[in-house]
Amino acid sequence: MNAKIVTLPGDGISPEIVVEAVKVMDRVAQVHGHTFEYEEALIGGAAIDATGTPLPDETVTKCMASDGVLLGAVGDPKFDNDPRSKVRPEQGLLGLRKAMGVFANLRPVKLYPQLLHASTIKPEVIESVDLLFVRELTGGLYFGERGRLTVDGEEAAFDTMFYKKSEIERVVRTAFELARKRRNKVTSVEKANVLESSRLWRETATEVAADYPDVEFDAMFVDICAMRLVRYPEVFDVIVTNNMFGDILTDEASMIAGSMGMLPSGAIGASKPGLFEPIHGSAPKYTGMNVVNPIATILSAAMMLRYSLEMDAEADAIENAVQKVLEDGFRTKDIMEEGATKVGTREMGDLVTERIG
Ligand code: IPM
Ligand code: MG
Repeated sequence: MNAKIVTLPGDGISPEIVVEAVKVMDRVAQVHGHTFEYEEALIGGAAIDATGTPLPDETVTKCMASDGVLLGAVGDPKFDNDPRSKVRPEQGLLGLRKAMGVFANLRPVKLYPQLLHASTIKPEVIESVDLLFVRELTGGLYFGERGRLTVDGEEAAFDTMFYKKSEIERVVRTAFELARKRRNKVTSVEKANVLESSRLWRETATEVAADYPDVEFDAMFVDICAMRLVRYPEVFDVIVTNNMFGDILTDEASMIAGSMGMLPSGAIGASKPGLFEPIHGSAPKYTGMNVVNPIATILSAAMMLRYSLEMDAEADAIENAVQKVLEDGFRTKDIMEEGATKVGTREMGDLVTERIG
């Protein structure tokens, strides 16, 4: 198969890890007889520096015409230090998610047995964790009305958590469909004891659940979910939640896996292409040092093959190669432990590549 892939090198350490994922995909293409054509496009701080905008129109056009989009990360402290800055790298990412219509963000949290001791959570708590977050990605607090105003003579600001029923329904349905391919359990997470948008979320999720009598359904408040994730994480299979809660809970859950450097994600919509990216950020302080872990991005490429290109065997090949590298005792700095062999970003990419085919 011939596939057109757009890569978005982004900011900070991101270009370094995207290169490693491309290395791995090239090997997969060679072994499995495919041709991957890559096209690069600008996003985030890099795009602001080059064009003045974090998401040039050309980037959206290229992404929409592709079979899949692989992004590293965006974000640059030079924009963070100015809270009044009108353009920010993150606007590029949010704009792209919206433009591509990728409303369901799949964030699997899987623990590799070799990394059981890399987590700060006790091994007996996390050893059987295998869960999948489905985070709503194109609505909610991230996209609701916001602004600044003067109230009682002082400055005030607001953001709005807004959801249409159809936006909730489609992402919850995606969660149920995915649960059927896993352990048949969906937990819908919100704050229905306080928030109106969460009450609509719970009502809608309960209605959707009725269409899936074979899937166990549970609705849970977000604060309880945050607690259970570190206390009884093995009880979860698929967790579906809104954009903001999903952002927070997935960073928390990444600590089960030992490092944010291990967790991939894939955002999908009603049609192709999808947008695939690690859940971690651009880690600017490590830029150019060859120390960060490329595995989250390599596994995101695997998700792209699985969900956008329907290449299950090829995705398995990448995931198995990662597993083998860990079994063979190689670790980047973030997951390093006694007795293991410490390697850099490029070496980790090479080690995974060598184990494919
Ligand atoms: C994520 C990130 C982004 C988000 C940022 C970079 C805007 O934290 O993908 O989780 O909040 O969605
Ligand atoms: Mg986040």
